[in-house]
Amino acid sequence: MRVTKKITVLFLGLLFIGLQGCTSDNGNEPEINLDQVAFDAADAVNGSRLYNDFTAQETGFVAPQDASVKLVDITDHKDFYRCKQCHAWDQKAQFGSYINRAPKTGRPDVSSVELTNMQSADIRVLFDGIKGTGGGAVDPARTADGTNPALGGNNHPDYGTILSDELIWDLVKYLKDGAFDTDALYETNIVGTYPTGSVSFSDIGRDGNAAAGNAFFASNCAMCHGEDGTGIDIGGRSIGDFAREKTYEVQFKVVSGQLGTPMGTTSITIDEMKDLLKAISDETNYPPLG
Ligand code: HEC
Ligand code: HEC
Repeated sequence: MRVTKKITVLFLGLLFIGLQGCTSDNGNEPEINLDQVAFDAADAVNGSRLYNDFTAQETGFVAPQDASVKLVDITDHKDFYRCKQCHAWDQKAQFGSYINRAPKTGRPDVSSVELTNMQSADIRVLFDGIKGTGGGAVDPARTADGTNPALGGNNHPDYGTILSDELIWDLVKYLKDGAFDTDALYETNIVGTYPTGSVSFSDIGRDGNAAAGNAFFASNCAMCHGEDGTGIDIGGRSIGDFAREKTYEVQFKVVSGQLGTPMGTTSITIDEMKDLLKAISDETNYPPLG
């Protein structure tokens, strides 16, 4: 399925370059598609870090693009700028894991725009969507109270004033090529509607292979988290608890790493992710903290 889509995209891309070549003024030389060049050079893993928190040290973000934008107006109101706050870790916006994440003074309501299944999205359309020229300005008045949508705190920000094109291409690459389709990994069961609905997760790991997942954990995670995942207290949870309760965040954090901690990125395929989730959601092998 994914391969077919990729081939289609490749084919359309070649066709596009071909057509451009035909219509170019100098006739023979096909013009270079600069969007494709930028996309090819982009880094999906860094895109995932930016999606979490672009102000973190690991992302390569240094200062806002527009010199009149004050960084402190972003860092003091982070949840109005973190992609994950409005579109969620599972990209399902208010229709998945964040169905009951209501707005507070310090964070806006979760958006209704899902960013799932972007594999066949046009890279230029995606780039422009993220750049959001003319979108929400960096302004403390706009982000003063998330519970008052009239202030516009829930608008997609004008990232052109904040992020370089290079970093925006990393985000494009992450959403198109890097982000996992969580429906392939587990079932999300939602009841009701945002912000009063509820969510649960089942069939964690789908048809994954638990033995392979145990082996993956032993060689990539156990040195820090302990053999049974109880070696580090992660917000009162063991690895097993986290996989059972915050299922929607595991696939993200494994790829991205945990910003600000020694946990770096782990390279993993979707099949290995299924194996891992299947393994670590097992309560006998990965119990709660002791
Ligand atoms: C404060 C909430 C908020 C934040 C933060 C936010 N978005 Fe959005 N986003 C929205 C809303 C609302 C829309 C729909 C309206 C629009 O396009 O302006 C949207 C639209 C989009 C679209 C276009 C989708 C489509 O189908 O047209 C993309 C892509 C996107 N966001 C990606 C991102 C990325 C990547 C980030 C982080 C760099 C981000 N968003 C941060 C609220 C947010
Ligand atoms: C180099 C050590 C190290 C390795 C390797 C490592 N982790 Fe972590 N992990 C950490 C640390 C440190 C934290 C943060 C603990 C805290 O909350 O302060 C963490 C946090 C987490 C969290 C919680 C994230 C959150 O949002 O709170 C999860 C889930 C997790 N790790 C899963 C894994 C998995 C799965 C692997 C293997 C693919 C792995 N880790 C590999 C050290 C590591």
